[in-house]
Amino acid sequence: MKRSLILLVAIATAVSASAQRPTRSTSVAPDSTEFPPIARSAAEKKILATLDAAAKAGETYENVPASDGRLLRLLTEAVDAKQVVEIGTSTGLSGMWFSTALEKTGGHLTTFEYDPGRAATAKRHFAEAGVEQLITIVQGDAHKTLARLHGPIDVAFIDADKDGYVDYLNKLLPLVRPGGLILAHNVDMVPDYVKAVTTNPSLETVFYMQGNGLAVTLKKR
Ligand SMILES: C[S@@+](CC[C@H](N)C(=O)[O-])C[C@H]1O[C@@H](n2cnc3c(N)ncnc32)[C@H](O)[C@@H]1O
Repeated sequence: MKRSLILLVAIATAVSASAQRPTRSTSVAPDSTEFPPIARSAAEKKILATLDAAAKAGETYENVPASDGRLLRLLTEAVDAKQVVEIGTSTGLSGMWFSTALEKTGGHLTTFEYDPGRAATAKRHFAEAGVEQLITIVQGDAHKTLARLHGPIDVAFIDADKDGYVDYLNKLLPLVRPGGLILAHNVDMVPDYVKAVTTNPSLETVFYMQGNGLAVTLKKR
């Protein structure tokens, strides 16, 4: 009787201890969309507000989601980019993400857009965000107008016609400085591009798939 009572108390104690032990929750990776960017300056606040207003007004066309835009900013600021080149301006949302970095690095974005209407909307957004002096829009077919560019490019972002990605890469790569980055959006749709950036020993490429699939390629030193 006494022994069974002791056994009972021992089992009850063990059950209660295990109930109090903090259980390890199933691991869930933090999602940056749950942690919106926090502006550090009035200039940054204005850019973020313009991005928000453009999205709410539907002044958009196949733009990067915020998660990818924030990565564009982070990489651009991290490499202290002075010259950024973008193929595919659309209505300027990615351009505004770049400008959050460029107003800190003292850099400039040259962005190429085929469609005159979207180029005009982007120009207005850049003015509303107060960053028009940081950005030059080149309107026309980037396969031709890219010839105007001179290096060194710190960050190049390819986000236009998918069957043009490899041509853009071939044209931009000689202008990108060693240690510079080539970024490309929606790469799940462009196997030729993926092959080109993963088989060249001068390049190191990783894929960030949280947004719409961004290839991040380093031109090795
Ligand atoms: C996916 S959107 C760009 C989105 C933009 N980067 C953003 O996130 O805000 C692609 C853009 O590339 C433009 N485009 C397509 N072919 C082009 C070309 N050959 N030259 C310049 N722009 C082109 C399209 O008109 C379209 O606006």
